[in-house]
Parts: sequence; structure tokens; C-alpha cells
Amino acid sequence: MKHVLSVLDVRDEIMDIMEQAGIFKAGYGEGEPLKGKTLAMIFEKASTRTRVSFEVAMYQLGGSPLYLSASDLQLGRGEIIEDTARAMTRYVDGVMIRAREHDDVVKFSQYSNVPVINGLTNLEHPCQALTDIFTIMERKETLDLKMVFVGDGNNVANSLLLATALVGMDFTVACPPGYEPDSYILKEAQKIAKKTGSHLEVTIAVKEAVKDANVLYTDVWVSMGDEAEEKKRLKDLKEYQLNSELLKLADAEAMVLHCLPAIRDQEITEEVLNGPQSAVWDQAENRLHVQKALLYLLLKN
Ligand code: CP
Ligand code: NVA
Repeated sequence: MKHVLSVLDVRDEIMDIMEQAGIFKAGYGEGEPLKGKTLAMIFEKASTRTRVSFEVAMYQLGGSPLYLSASDLQLGRGEIIEDTARAMTRYVDGVMIRAREHDDVVKFSQYSNVPVINGLTNLEHPCQALTDIFTIMERKETLDLKMVFVGDGNNVANSLLLATALVGMDFTVACPPGYEPDSYILKEAQKIAKKTGSHLEVTIAVKEAVKDANVLYTDVWVSMGDEAEEKKRLKDLKEYQLNSELLKLADAEAMVLHCLPAIRDQEITEEVLNGPQSAVWDQAENRLHVQKALLYLLLKN
């Protein structure tokens, strides 16, 4: 595991990350294993959870985070990503990037001599999906489950496809036509699922899909970068809201996840977001524990 650009990059380490995150969450773990290490954090898009949890994770591990808004770097004035990577990675021990284009993160990693972590791109959100698997294991104590993602088959859905395939969980994306997850990722996930026994599906039939689901997941209908399509998206996705009517069709013990930020009365209702089946605030907290595990395993030596 040199870089973590995709969930595919942790295919051999996913359970080690889960175990280490559990150790950190329980309050165990070495004192300051990343003392003297610096993590550069480049943001081309807004962030609350990713920024704060990575920053606090570095402090808690004894290292230093460096917040860098892409628009304040020479990158914002036209310096190419290759040169940014060549120079920056001579100063720091790791880089986390939230970028518009996934290919930019890939390119940065090719010119970096330190580990690069994807903090969200248009294609994937691997740190989120790792946290989601951890949160499910924490609540349900098993991965022999069915999760249904309702709404836009976006970056989060893509990473969840790969993560569920890796851990052998059944996963369905219920979305309107035109909002399916990335076709390359779906194919890769299906290859993995064949070996792990997970059943993956993409369907428009949301009510049938959620039947017997143990985990219901949703995310915003208008992701960062999709703002120009807002009107069309709200119209196309309106039958895919995670509300109490839909929740009633799932398993009675089903848990609700949302990566946040949530837009109430679009993809989810207040009643469900803060209802008794919701695990979203534990899920948000777990970003910290899982990213500490990831940073520890990537940067400790
Ligand atoms: N879930 C998530 O990545 O949140 P932020 O956009 O606030 O970082
Ligand atoms: N799909 C959302 C996730 C935000 C954490 C976006 O890309 O904006």
C-alpha cells in the first residue's frame, strides 16, 4: 500500500485498517507514532469532516497537518500538477488531496515520492467507504449483510461498490436511469465480488431493492461540481428520497448511513437522519479513527 487513490489500493489491507481503527477508537495505540511527520492536505473543494478529521488525526498521532487551499498554491496560477508534486513531496511525508478530477490525483501520485491519499474526487471517496465498513462492523458485528445505496450513483457509491465487494457484503445501487455508478468501477467490483461471494446490483426499482436491506445509505443529489445540473437532478432523483416510508420497507433493524453533508428534504428527511435507526453521527466520528489507522499504516516508518 503506497498510495490510497482508490479502494482498490487497500484490497489486501482493508481488514488491517479496520483492526487498527478499532484499536485507536478504544483508546489504545502507541503514544506519538508520527512524531516529526508532516501531512500536506490540498483542497480544491470545500470540506468539513475530511479536513478536520485528517487534521486532528495528525495532531493525535504526534505529527503536523498542513492545510493548503489549491487556489492559494501556484497550482491556482497555472503551475502544473507534476511540478507541484515534485517540489512539495520533498518537504512532507504524505499528501492528502481533495480534487475535482480523479486523474489529477493519479498524476500527482506518479510524481510523488511519498504516499498520496485521495480525500475525494469526482470518481471515488475511499476514506469515506473505509469508514462506512468500519461503522457497519461496529453496529452489526458482521459483514454478512445487504446494503442498499439510494440516489445518485456518485463517487461515494463507486467506492462503496469496491469496498462491499472486497468484504463480501451484498450491495445494490437504486438509482434513476443516467445516475448509475461508474461502469469501469462496477466491472472491477464484479470481478472481486465473484471471488468474495458478494452480490452486486444496480436497479431503478428502489422499493423492491430496499426489501430486507440491513443498511440503507444515501448521499446528496447535487455533488460538488454538479451545481449547474441542480434543477434537473432534483427532478430526476425525487423518487429516490430516503424517508420513513422507504425505511419501513427495509429490515426492521436496518441502520441508516449518510456520508454528510445532508440536504434535508432532498435525499433524506430529518426524521430519518436523526431517527433511532440512524448511525450518521457515529459514522462521522469514525472518519477520525479510520484515517488515523490509514495514516499510521502508511507513514509510521
Ligand atoms: N463526508 C465528507 O467527506 O464530508 P466533507 O465534505 O465535509 O469532508
Ligand atoms: N458526493 C458528495 C460527497 C461529499 C462528501 C460530493 O462529491 O460532493
